Amino acid sequence: MLSSPSRSADVVSGEAAVTRLSNQRAATPSCRAWGIAFTLSIGTLLLMCSPASFAADGEKLFAPCVACHGNKGEGNGALSAPAIAGQDAAYLERQLRNFRNRRRGADKSDALVAQMQAAAMALGDDAAVAKIATYVAKLPKTVNTAPAPGNLHNGNNLYQGKCGACHGGTAEGNPALKAPRLAGLDAAYIKRQFAQFRDGVRGTDPQDTPGRQMAMMAKTLGTERDLDDIIAFIHRQGRPK
Ligand code: HEC
Ligand code: HEC
Repeated sequence: MLSSPSRSADVVSGEAAVTRLSNQRAATPSCRAWGIAFTLSIGTLLLMCSPASFAADGEKLFAPCVACHGNKGEGNGALSAPAIAGQDAAYLERQLRNFRNRRRGADKSDALVAQMQAAAMALGDDAAVAKIATYVAKLPKTVNTAPAPGNLHNGNNLYQGKCGACHGGTAEGNPALKAPRLAGLDAAYIKRQFAQFRDGVRGTDPQDTPGRQMAMMAKTLGTERDLDDIIAFIHRQGRPK
């Protein structure tokens, strides 16, 4: 179609026609030149519009999520729905896929996971998953409104010794290591996920390499008290100083 050797010449003459038009009102370019100019401008329009429509799709897809995750993706502790705003897009996409193929939540008795699996299935296809992950990742990050109490000194030491290498010094996450941001998550959610990793509920699928890494780590923590202190430290991060 447009792959003939004359293509570049056509394009040039199209541009020339546009320039000529703006410079000399009296000029009447051929229909062919008009056609090419028109095609070029539609192409430019499409290029400009596609990221915008991608974002608009993401916003539409997000509508059913707000009932549980909140308008801004800030989470809702009463519904056990975690904060997701500003989380790394690749992490979000992986979790949504994991819910969809039951890599996350093979145990059907877990009502919370079942809810989320249903929401993830309703997204339709992989393209929708990618769009919503991109959209949610761009929402402004939130911090926990009810910081957990605990021994910050112990929490800081344990966090830096056992968690920070992957999740980042201020719990901001490290996409290169596939480790998510923890700073915005509420205490109950962190504890539940931690227990699931430790007890072989999450991160057991042989293909779930990031989950398996985390599951190994979760087995190394001494006591629940230590986890409380770590969470207290995590909740101090990402706040306005
Ligand atoms: C009926 C309530 C409900 C709805 C609707 C819902 N979620 Fe969830 N979501 C949850 C719960 C509960 C969890 C925690 C599941 C668990 O404990 O593993 C969760 C977890 C998640 C996670 C994992 C977060 C993490 O840090 O690993 C993501 C991502 C997520 N939801 C995205 C979405 C998106 C996107 C939508 C809309 C398409 C949505 N959710 C709709 C309740 C819901
Ligand atoms: C070797 C790297 C590594 C270390 C060390 C590590 N994690 Fe993780 N963690 C991960 C990865 C990777 C994931 C994402 C797993 C997935 O994709 O399901 C994760 C996930 C989590 C989650 C789930 C977050 C969510 O949104 O659902 C929690 C909670 C968590 N880690 C807490 C901790 C704590 C607390 C420590 C320290 C005691 C720790 N991690 C140490 C790599 C690590």
